[in-house]
Amino acid sequence: MKRILVTGGTGYIGSHTCVELIQAGYEVIIMDNLYNSSIAVLDRIEQIAGTKPKFYRTDLLDKEGLERIFAENEIDAVIHFAGYKAVGESVQIPMTYYENNIAGSLNLYRAMDNAGVKKLVFSSSATVYGDPESVPIREDFKTHTTNPYGSTKLMNEMILADICTSDPEWSVLLLRYFNPIGAHRSGLLGEVPNGIPNNLVPYIARVANGTLDYLRVWGNDYPTPDGTGVRDYIHVVDLAKGHIKAVEYAFGHPGCERINLGTGNGYSVLEVLHAYEKACGRELPYRIMDRRPGDIAECWADTEKAERLLGWKAQYNIDDMCEDSWRFTVNNPDGIK
Ligand code: NAD
Ligand code: UD1
Repeated sequence: MKRILVTGGTGYIGSHTCVELIQAGYEVIIMDNLYNSSIAVLDRIEQIAGTKPKFYRTDLLDKEGLERIFAENEIDAVIHFAGYKAVGESVQIPMTYYENNIAGSLNLYRAMDNAGVKKLVFSSSATVYGDPESVPIREDFKTHTTNPYGSTKLMNEMILADICTSDPEWSVLLLRYFNPIGAHRSGLLGEVPNGIPNNLVPYIARVANGTLDYLRVWGNDYPTPDGTGVRDYIHVVDLAKGHIKAVEYAFGHPGCERINLGTGNGYSVLEVLHAYEKACGRELPYRIMDRRPGDIAECWADTEKAERLLGWKAQYNIDDMCEDSWRFTVNNPDGIK
Protein backbone atom coordinates (compact mmCIF):
# COMPACT_ATOMS: atom_id res chain seq x y z
CA MET A 1 0.00 0.00 0.00
CA LYS A 2 1.48 3.36 -1.02
CA ARG A 3 1.75 6.01 1.68
CA ILE A 4 0.94 9.64 0.83
CA LEU A 5 1.74 12.65 3.00
CA VAL A 6 -0.95 15.30 2.56
CA THR A 7 0.06 18.76 3.79
CA GLY A 8 -2.98 20.93 4.54
CA GLY A 9 -5.01 17.71 4.64
CA THR A 10 -7.59 19.00 7.13
CA GLY A 11 -8.35 21.98 4.84
CA TYR A 12 -11.11 22.27 2.26
CA ILE A 13 -9.56 20.64 -0.81
CA GLY A 14 -7.13 18.52 1.21
CA SER A 15 -9.85 16.80 3.25
CA HIS A 16 -11.80 15.81 0.14
CA THR A 17 -8.60 14.51 -1.41
CA CYS A 18 -7.82 12.41 1.68
CA VAL A 19 -11.23 10.72 1.34
CA GLU A 20 -10.57 9.89 -2.32
CA LEU A 21 -7.04 8.66 -1.55
CA ILE A 22 -8.28 6.30 1.17
CA GLN A 23 -11.07 5.06 -1.09
CA ALA A 24 -8.50 4.43 -3.83
CA GLY A 25 -6.45 2.26 -1.46
CA TYR A 26 -3.71 4.65 -0.32
CA GLU A 27 -2.51 5.12 3.25
CA VAL A 28 -2.83 8.78 4.19
CA ILE A 29 -0.79 10.83 6.63
CA ILE A 30 -1.90 14.40 7.22
CA MET A 31 0.24 17.27 8.42
CA ASP A 32 -1.46 20.58 9.17
CA ASN A 33 -0.98 23.33 11.75
CA LEU A 34 -4.80 23.78 11.98
CA TYR A 35 -4.45 27.48 11.21
CA ASN A 36 -7.47 27.34 8.89
CA SER A 37 -9.09 24.00 9.71
CA SER A 38 -10.36 21.88 12.55
CA ILE A 39 -9.12 18.63 14.06
CA ALA A 40 -12.74 17.41 13.83
CA VAL A 41 -12.21 17.00 10.09
CA LEU A 42 -10.33 13.77 10.88
CA ASP A 43 -13.51 12.21 12.30
CA ARG A 44 -15.48 13.34 9.26
CA ILE A 45 -12.94 11.69 6.96
CA GLU A 46 -13.25 8.51 9.01
CA GLN A 47 -17.05 8.64 8.86
CA ILE A 48 -16.94 8.78 5.06
CA ALA A 49 -13.93 6.63 4.20
CA GLY A 50 -13.77 4.26 7.18
CA THR A 51 -10.20 5.11 8.18
CA LYS A 52 -8.85 7.92 10.32
CA PRO A 53 -5.59 9.22 8.85
CA LYS A 54 -2.51 9.53 11.03
CA PHE A 55 -2.15 13.20 11.91
CA TYR A 56 0.76 15.51 12.69
CA ARG A 57 0.00 18.98 13.97
CA THR A 58 3.09 20.50 12.41
CA ASP A 59 3.92 23.83 10.82
CA LEU A 60 5.71 24.07 7.46
CA LEU A 61 8.07 26.53 9.15
CA ASP A 62 9.13 23.86 11.66
CA LYS A 63 12.02 22.16 9.83
CA GLU A 64 12.68 19.60 12.55
CA GLY A 65 9.01 18.70 12.76
CA LEU A 66 8.99 18.05 9.02
CA GLU A 67 12.15 15.91 9.19
CA ARG A 68 10.52 13.88 11.96
CA ILE A 69 7.49 13.04 9.82
CA PHE A 70 9.73 11.66 7.09
CA ALA A 71 11.91 9.80 9.63
CA GLU A 72 8.91 8.14 11.25
CA ASN A 73 7.06 7.15 8.07
CA GLU A 74 8.08 5.62 4.79
CA ILE A 75 6.41 8.11 2.50
CA ASP A 76 6.06 7.44 -1.21
CA ALA A 77 4.72 10.80 -2.40
CA VAL A 78 3.50 14.16 -1.11
CA ILE A 79 0.46 16.24 -2.03
CA HIS A 80 1.14 19.79 -0.90
CA PHE A 81 -1.98 21.86 -0.12
CA ALA A 82 -0.79 23.74 2.98
CA GLY A 83 -0.56 27.48 2.57
CA TYR A 84 -2.35 30.79 2.95
CA LYS A 85 -4.84 31.60 0.20
CA ALA A 86 -6.58 34.95 0.69
CA VAL A 87 -5.74 37.29 -2.17
CA GLY A 88 -6.70 40.55 -0.40
CA GLU A 89 -4.89 39.59 2.79
CA SER A 90 -1.74 38.77 0.80
CA VAL A 91 -1.63 42.39 -0.38
CA GLN A 92 -1.84 43.60 3.25
CA ILE A 93 0.74 41.21 4.73
CA PRO A 94 2.98 40.06 1.86
CA MET A 95 5.92 39.03 4.05
CA THR A 96 3.70 36.62 5.99
CA TYR A 97 2.50 35.12 2.71
CA TYR A 98 6.01 34.74 1.29
CA GLU A 99 7.28 33.29 4.55
CA ASN A 100 4.50 30.70 4.82
CA ASN A 101 4.02 29.79 1.17
CA ILE A 102 7.61 30.09 -0.05
CA ALA A 103 9.91 29.53 2.95
CA GLY A 104 7.51 26.92 4.36
CA SER A 105 7.28 25.08 1.04
CA LEU A 106 11.07 25.12 0.64
CA ASN A 107 11.38 23.46 4.04
CA LEU A 108 9.05 20.74 2.79
CA TYR A 109 10.98 20.23 -0.48
CA ARG A 110 14.26 20.06 1.46
CA ALA A 111 12.86 17.51 3.92
CA MET A 112 11.55 15.44 0.99
CA ASP A 113 14.90 15.55 -0.77
CA ASN A 114 16.75 14.57 2.42
CA ALA A 115 14.42 11.59 2.80
CA GLY A 116 14.68 10.62 -0.89
CA VAL A 117 10.96 11.30 -1.47
CA LYS A 118 10.83 12.88 -4.91
CA LYS A 119 7.22 12.68 -6.03
CA LEU A 120 5.07 15.74 -5.46
CA VAL A 121 1.69 17.13 -6.45
CA PHE A 122 1.47 20.89 -5.87
CA SER A 123 -1.66 23.08 -5.50
CA SER A 124 -1.24 25.90 -7.96
CA SER A 125 -3.97 28.16 -9.28
CA ALA A 126 -5.39 29.63 -12.46
CA THR A 127 -4.42 32.94 -10.89
CA VAL A 128 -0.96 32.40 -12.48
CA TYR A 129 -2.54 33.28 -15.87
CA GLY A 130 -3.46 36.79 -14.70
CA ASP A 131 -5.80 38.37 -17.27
CA PRO A 132 -5.58 35.82 -20.11
CA GLU A 133 -5.48 36.98 -23.74
CA SER A 134 -8.16 34.47 -24.73
CA VAL A 135 -10.24 31.57 -23.40
CA PRO A 136 -10.13 28.62 -22.99
CA ILE A 137 -6.76 28.90 -21.24
CA ARG A 138 -4.05 26.43 -22.21
CA GLU A 139 -1.13 25.52 -19.96
CA ASP A 140 1.37 27.12 -22.35
CA PHE A 141 -0.26 30.57 -22.04
CA LYS A 142 1.84 33.39 -20.60
CA THR A 143 1.91 33.60 -16.81
CA HIS A 144 1.52 36.84 -14.91
CA THR A 145 0.53 37.63 -11.34
CA THR A 146 -1.10 40.68 -9.80
CA ASN A 147 -0.88 40.00 -6.05
CA PRO A 148 1.51 38.35 -3.55
CA TYR A 149 -0.68 35.23 -3.22
CA GLY A 150 -0.51 34.61 -6.97
CA SER A 151 3.21 35.29 -6.93
CA THR A 152 3.75 32.63 -4.27
CA LYS A 153 2.04 30.12 -6.57
CA LEU A 154 4.13 31.09 -9.59
CA MET A 155 7.36 31.15 -7.55
CA ASN A 156 6.65 27.66 -6.21
CA GLU A 157 6.10 26.49 -9.78
CA MET A 158 9.48 27.94 -10.78
CA ILE A 159 11.28 26.46 -7.76
CA LEU A 160 9.83 23.03 -8.45
CA ALA A 161 10.67 23.19 -12.17
CA ASP A 162 14.28 24.02 -11.21
CA ILE A 163 14.38 21.11 -8.75
CA CYS A 164 13.22 18.76 -11.53
CA THR A 165 15.88 20.11 -13.88
CA SER A 166 18.58 19.60 -11.27
CA ASP A 167 17.57 16.03 -10.43
CA PRO A 168 15.84 13.83 -13.02
CA GLU A 169 14.49 11.54 -10.29
CA TRP A 170 11.99 14.19 -9.21
CA SER A 171 8.45 13.98 -10.48
CA VAL A 172 6.26 17.04 -9.96
CA LEU A 173 2.75 17.88 -11.06
CA LEU A 174 1.75 21.53 -10.83
CA LEU A 175 -2.03 21.50 -10.76
CA ARG A 176 -3.62 24.80 -11.69
CA TYR A 177 -7.08 24.80 -10.12
CA PHE A 178 -9.84 26.94 -11.56
CA ASN A 179 -12.65 27.80 -9.07
CA PRO A 180 -13.26 24.95 -6.62
CA ILE A 181 -16.73 24.98 -5.02
CA GLY A 182 -19.24 22.48 -3.64
CA ALA A 183 -18.87 19.95 -0.88
CA HIS A 184 -18.86 16.21 -0.24
CA ARG A 185 -22.18 14.53 -1.12
CA SER A 186 -22.45 13.23 2.45
CA GLY A 187 -22.77 16.78 3.78
CA LEU A 188 -19.89 16.02 6.17
CA LEU A 189 -17.06 17.92 4.47
CA GLY A 190 -17.06 21.34 2.84
CA GLU A 191 -15.59 24.81 2.88
CA VAL A 192 -15.70 26.78 6.13
CA PRO A 193 -14.66 30.35 5.32
CA ASN A 194 -13.20 32.55 8.01
CA GLY A 195 -15.37 35.65 8.56
CA ILE A 196 -17.33 37.19 5.68
CA PRO A 197 -16.47 35.26 2.52
CA ASN A 198 -14.87 36.97 -0.48
CA ASN A 199 -15.52 34.16 -2.93
CA LEU A 200 -18.80 33.87 -4.75
CA VAL A 201 -20.34 30.57 -3.68
CA PRO A 202 -19.48 30.78 0.04
CA TYR A 203 -21.05 34.26 -0.03
CA ILE A 204 -24.21 33.05 -1.78
CA ALA A 205 -24.46 30.20 0.75
CA ARG A 206 -24.64 32.81 3.55
CA VAL A 207 -27.32 34.75 1.72
CA ALA A 208 -29.25 31.50 1.28
CA ASN A 209 -29.07 30.67 5.01
CA GLY A 210 -30.02 34.21 6.00
CA THR A 211 -26.67 35.20 7.55
CA LEU A 212 -26.12 37.87 4.87
CA ASP A 213 -28.82 40.05 3.32
CA TYR A 214 -28.04 39.98 -0.39
CA LEU A 215 -25.36 39.16 -2.92
CA ARG A 216 -23.34 42.07 -4.25
CA VAL A 217 -22.71 41.32 -7.92
CA TRP A 218 -19.38 42.92 -8.82
CA GLY A 219 -20.23 44.52 -12.16
CA ASN A 220 -22.64 43.70 -14.99
CA ASP A 221 -20.83 45.58 -17.75
CA TYR A 222 -18.23 42.94 -18.67
CA PRO A 223 -18.08 41.72 -22.29
CA THR A 224 -19.84 38.46 -21.33
CA PRO A 225 -23.32 37.18 -22.31
CA ASP A 226 -25.13 38.69 -19.27
CA GLY A 227 -22.44 41.24 -18.38
CA THR A 228 -21.33 39.50 -15.15
CA GLY A 229 -17.99 37.74 -14.66
CA VAL A 230 -17.58 34.20 -16.00
CA ARG A 231 -15.52 31.50 -14.24
CA ASP A 232 -14.83 27.78 -14.51
CA TYR A 233 -16.37 26.41 -11.30
CA ILE A 234 -15.29 22.88 -10.49
CA HIS A 235 -16.75 20.49 -7.91
CA VAL A 236 -14.25 19.90 -5.10
CA VAL A 237 -14.77 16.12 -5.36
CA ASP A 238 -13.87 16.20 -9.06
CA LEU A 239 -10.82 18.22 -8.12
CA ALA A 240 -9.91 15.69 -5.42
CA LYS A 241 -10.20 12.85 -7.95
CA GLY A 242 -7.83 14.74 -10.23
CA HIS A 243 -5.21 14.49 -7.48
CA ILE A 244 -5.49 10.71 -7.37
CA LYS A 245 -4.82 10.59 -11.11
CA ALA A 246 -1.95 13.03 -10.65
CA VAL A 247 -0.30 10.90 -7.96
CA GLU A 248 -0.65 7.82 -10.16
CA TYR A 249 0.95 9.74 -13.02
CA ALA A 250 3.81 10.94 -10.80
CA PHE A 251 4.70 7.33 -9.94
CA GLY A 252 5.31 6.53 -13.59
CA HIS A 253 6.68 9.76 -15.04
CA PRO A 254 9.67 11.78 -13.83
CA GLY A 255 9.82 15.47 -14.78
CA CYS A 256 7.60 18.48 -14.23
CA GLU A 257 4.15 19.06 -15.76
CA ARG A 258 1.72 21.97 -15.47
CA ILE A 259 -1.90 20.84 -15.70
CA ASN A 260 -5.20 22.75 -15.57
CA LEU A 261 -7.93 21.28 -13.41
CA GLY A 262 -11.20 22.81 -14.52
CA THR A 263 -14.35 21.66 -16.26
CA GLY A 264 -13.83 23.63 -19.47
CA ASN A 265 -17.20 25.39 -18.97
CA GLY A 266 -17.76 28.96 -17.89
CA TYR A 267 -20.70 30.19 -15.78
CA SER A 268 -21.61 33.79 -15.03
CA VAL A 269 -22.28 35.16 -11.55
CA LEU A 270 -26.03 35.28 -12.29
CA GLU A 271 -26.04 31.72 -13.65
CA VAL A 272 -24.43 30.49 -10.44
CA LEU A 273 -26.89 32.50 -8.36
CA HIS A 274 -29.82 30.95 -10.24
CA ALA A 275 -28.40 27.43 -9.86
CA TYR A 276 -28.13 28.09 -6.11
CA GLU A 277 -31.72 29.32 -6.01
CA LYS A 278 -32.78 25.97 -7.49
CA ALA A 279 -30.72 24.14 -4.87
CA CYS A 280 -32.07 26.01 -1.85
CA GLY A 281 -35.61 26.40 -3.21
CA ARG A 282 -36.02 30.16 -2.98
CA GLU A 283 -35.16 33.41 -4.73
CA LEU A 284 -31.99 35.05 -3.50
CA PRO A 285 -31.70 38.85 -3.43
CA TYR A 286 -28.83 40.58 -5.21
CA ARG A 287 -27.67 44.08 -6.12
CA ILE A 288 -25.48 45.11 -9.00
CA MET A 289 -22.40 47.00 -7.77
CA ASP A 290 -19.27 48.45 -9.41
CA ARG A 291 -16.61 46.05 -10.64
CA ARG A 292 -14.27 44.61 -7.99
CA PRO A 293 -10.74 45.91 -8.57
CA GLY A 294 -8.44 43.22 -9.97
CA ASP A 295 -11.26 41.04 -11.36
CA ILE A 296 -11.14 39.72 -14.90
CA ALA A 297 -14.09 39.28 -17.26
CA GLU A 298 -13.84 35.59 -17.98
CA CYS A 299 -11.70 32.59 -17.31
CA TRP A 300 -12.09 28.93 -18.14
CA ALA A 301 -9.78 26.01 -18.73
CA ASP A 302 -8.68 24.09 -21.75
CA THR A 303 -8.92 20.60 -20.26
CA GLU A 304 -7.29 18.62 -23.09
CA LYS A 305 -3.96 18.12 -21.29
CA ALA A 306 -5.58 16.77 -18.11
CA GLU A 307 -7.65 14.36 -20.18
CA ARG A 308 -4.65 13.24 -22.27
CA LEU A 309 -2.04 12.91 -19.52
CA LEU A 310 -4.14 11.95 -16.52
CA GLY A 311 -7.20 10.40 -18.14
CA TRP A 312 -9.25 12.72 -15.93
CA LYS A 313 -12.32 14.76 -16.70
CA ALA A 314 -14.72 16.54 -14.33
CA GLN A 315 -18.10 14.80 -13.93
CA TYR A 316 -20.26 17.13 -11.82
CA ASN A 317 -22.24 20.09 -13.18
CA ILE A 318 -23.12 23.44 -11.65
CA ASP A 319 -26.41 22.15 -10.19
CA ASP A 320 -24.56 19.33 -8.38
CA MET A 321 -22.06 21.85 -7.02
CA CYS A 322 -24.77 24.14 -5.65
CA GLU A 323 -26.86 21.28 -4.20
CA ASP A 324 -23.84 19.87 -2.37
CA SER A 325 -22.77 23.29 -1.10
CA TRP A 326 -26.28 23.89 0.20
CA ARG A 327 -26.49 20.49 1.93
CA PHE A 328 -23.20 21.16 3.72
CA THR A 329 -24.33 24.67 4.69
CA VAL A 330 -27.60 23.42 6.17
CA ASN A 331 -26.00 20.50 8.01
CA ASN A 332 -23.12 22.52 9.48
CA PRO A 333 -24.38 25.94 10.61
CA ASP A 334 -21.34 26.30 12.89
CA GLY A 335 -18.79 24.80 10.50
CA ILE A 336 -16.94 21.58 11.31
CA LYS A 337 -16.51 21.28 15.06
P1 NAD B 1 -7.58 25.68 3.21
O1 NAD B 1 -7.17 26.94 3.91
O2 NAD B 1 -8.91 25.13 3.49
O3 NAD B 1 -6.48 24.54 3.47
C1 NAD B 1 -5.12 24.83 3.64
C2 NAD B 1 -4.66 24.13 4.91
O4 NAD B 1 -3.27 24.43 5.10
C3 NAD B 1 -5.40 24.59 6.16
O5 NAD B 1 -5.92 23.45 6.84
C4 NAD B 1 -4.33 25.29 7.00
O6 NAD B 1 -4.53 25.09 8.38
C5 NAD B 1 -3.06 24.64 6.48
N1 NAD B 1 -1.85 25.47 6.62
C6 NAD B 1 -1.67 26.76 6.23
N2 NAD B 1 -0.42 27.15 6.52
C7 NAD B 1 0.21 26.08 7.10
C8 NAD B 1 1.51 25.86 7.62
N3 NAD B 1 2.43 26.83 7.66
N4 NAD B 1 1.81 24.64 8.12
C9 NAD B 1 0.87 23.66 8.13
N5 NAD B 1 -0.36 23.80 7.67
C10 NAD B 1 -0.70 25.01 7.16
O7 NAD B 1 -7.40 25.98 1.65
P2 NAD B 1 -7.92 25.13 0.39
O8 NAD B 1 -9.01 25.91 -0.26
O9 NAD B 1 -8.14 23.72 0.74
O10 NAD B 1 -6.65 25.27 -0.56
C11 NAD B 1 -5.63 24.29 -0.59
C12 NAD B 1 -4.53 24.74 -1.53
O11 NAD B 1 -5.08 24.97 -2.83
C13 NAD B 1 -3.87 26.05 -1.11
O12 NAD B 1 -2.48 25.97 -1.39
C14 NAD B 1 -4.53 27.07 -2.01
O13 NAD B 1 -3.71 28.19 -2.23
C15 NAD B 1 -4.74 26.26 -3.27
N6 NAD B 1 -5.83 26.78 -4.11
C16 NAD B 1 -7.07 26.94 -3.55
C17 NAD B 1 -8.09 27.46 -4.34
C18 NAD B 1 -9.47 27.68 -3.75
O14 NAD B 1 -10.26 28.39 -4.36
N7 NAD B 1 -9.81 27.11 -2.62
C19 NAD B 1 -7.86 27.79 -5.69
C20 NAD B 1 -6.60 27.58 -6.23
C21 NAD B 1 -5.57 27.07 -5.42
C1 UD1 C 1 -10.54 34.66 -6.63
C2 UD1 C 1 -9.12 35.18 -6.56
C3 UD1 C 1 -8.20 34.15 -7.20
C4 UD1 C 1 -8.37 32.81 -6.50
C5 UD1 C 1 -9.84 32.39 -6.59
C6 UD1 C 1 -10.12 31.09 -5.90
C7 UD1 C 1 -9.33 37.61 -6.63
C8 UD1 C 1 -9.11 38.84 -7.44
N1 UD1 C 1 -9.05 36.45 -7.24
O1 UD1 C 1 -10.85 34.47 -7.97
O2 UD1 C 1 -6.87 34.56 -7.10
O3 UD1 C 1 -7.55 31.84 -7.12
O4 UD1 C 1 -10.63 33.42 -5.99
O5 UD1 C 1 -9.93 31.21 -4.53
O6 UD1 C 1 -9.72 37.66 -5.48
N2 UD1 C 1 -18.38 37.81 -7.23
C9 UD1 C 1 -19.47 38.63 -6.98
N3 UD1 C 1 -19.84 38.87 -5.69
C10 UD1 C 1 -19.18 38.32 -4.63
C11 UD1 C 1 -18.05 37.48 -4.88
C12 UD1 C 1 -17.68 37.26 -6.19
O7 UD1 C 1 -20.08 39.14 -7.92
O8 UD1 C 1 -19.55 38.58 -3.48
C13 UD1 C 1 -17.98 37.51 -8.64
C14 UD1 C 1 -16.59 37.99 -9.01
O9 UD1 C 1 -16.61 39.30 -9.47
C15 UD1 C 1 -16.20 36.96 -10.07
C16 UD1 C 1 -16.93 35.68 -9.64
O10 UD1 C 1 -17.98 36.12 -8.78
O11 UD1 C 1 -16.72 37.35 -11.33
C17 UD1 C 1 -16.03 34.70 -8.89
O12 UD1 C 1 -15.39 35.37 -7.81
P1 UD1 C 1 -14.51 34.61 -6.73
O13 UD1 C 1 -15.25 33.45 -6.18
O14 UD1 C 1 -13.99 35.63 -5.76
O15 UD1 C 1 -13.30 33.98 -7.57
P2 UD1 C 1 -12.27 34.70 -8.59
O16 UD1 C 1 -12.50 36.15 -8.66
O17 UD1 C 1 -12.30 33.93 -9.85
